Amino acid sequence: MKVRDDFPMLRKKIIYFDNGATTFKPHIVIDSVVDYYSNYSANAHRGDYDISLQVDDAFEAAREKVKKFINAKTTEEIIFTSGTTDSLNMIIKGYFKNHLNSGDEILITKSEHASLVLPWFLLGNQIGCVVKYIDLDQDLKVTIENVTKAITNKTKVIALSHITNVIGDIRPIKEISKLAHQRGILVMVDGAQSVPHIKVDVEDLGIDFLGFSGHKMLGPTGIGVLYGKLELLEKMKPQNVGGGMNDIFTSLKQIDYKPLPHRLEAGTPNIAGAIGLGAAIDYLEMVGMDNISKHDQELKRYAVTKLSKLDNIEIYNANTGGSIIAFNVKGVFSQDTAIYLNKHNICVRAGSHCAKMLSDNINVNSTCRLSFYLYNTKEEIDRLVELLKNKDILKESL
Ligand code: ALA
Repeated sequence: MKVRDDFPMLRKKIIYFDNGATTFKPHIVIDSVVDYYSNYSANAHRGDYDISLQVDDAFEAAREKVKKFINAKTTEEIIFTSGTTDSLNMIIKGYFKNHLNSGDEILITKSEHASLVLPWFLLGNQIGCVVKYIDLDQDLKVTIENVTKAITNKTKVIALSHITNVIGDIRPIKEISKLAHQRGILVMVDGAQSVPHIKVDVEDLGIDFLGFSGHKMLGPTGIGVLYGKLELLEKMKPQNVGGGMNDIFTSLKQIDYKPLPHRLEAGTPNIAGAIGLGAAIDYLEMVGMDNISKHDQELKRYAVTKLSKLDNIEIYNANTGGSIIAFNVKGVFSQDTAIYLNKHNICVRAGSHCAKMLSDNINVNSTCRLSFYLYNTKEEIDRLVELLKNKDILKESL
């Protein structure tokens, strides 16, 4: 893909394979943020002067871009948050806390990220709802058969990553939503690893709630999105109250909230972040989400084929569709492998990657993770493979 010149970070002599953690930013995103701070750096929805009105337009234009990007029905369904973690916490604490009862069941899997698991654990402790696990198959994937098996007449929510952050499997969300809705179950999706990589159409997939982050899709850090179907968001309680989200409050403690989306966005929003996210969406659309998915998956297949030929490498997710590879060098702790690769200017993540229950399924607590994106190349993978052929990785990591 001819995109590398668009990314200033790629001028450094490093190979960056940690796009699951965060991504580099193209000029257009950086310039949009600098432009805001240099030329119209006022607050949003609070001023009657020109530069503030300009901010209102840019901020709401970003919301419109997000709406179109995920095919939401209206901008009222798009709430700006600080990231996926914030979005998922808001959904669970602001909606489900008030709509679930003791004994109601929530289905997740053991390969979910902490930001989806932990708010459910806490809610379970608070109101007595019960978190249950859908079994993963031998490739660590979620099958419709296993979802069907896990559903009982107490199931109220299925909460899953669309693409998981260690295994990189793409969940059949459309089929899961269909199954769930036939039984009156809601579907909540963590889109942190999917929205940047594949076309996510909330209408087509039948998603009820979705959270994702700007920084994993070429945008700034500190900005994220909570999508919810309008009729559900209307019933969601604000977790934060303050300026910007109320129409009026009186000394008699009467409060009238603003309509959506502002009701769920208390305080000064991350204006630069939202504008930067809008620019990132422009860039992704210019390159084309289909082209990006094709490129990502081609790199994954290429890397799996090459790495599978090395007898010192164990791959945990060769058969999943996303652009993530979890592996270990046999006999070498994952962090030592990452330190060794760093000495050769290759960035990979090592550890549990916030998916700590996955060790129940893969029998290791820690893996190295490669996560590719549109600016990675086969030549970079060749360099990695050459380095992993070394029999003295452990010694050389010291
Ligand atoms: N959730 C991010 C990751 O998977 C940080 O690396």
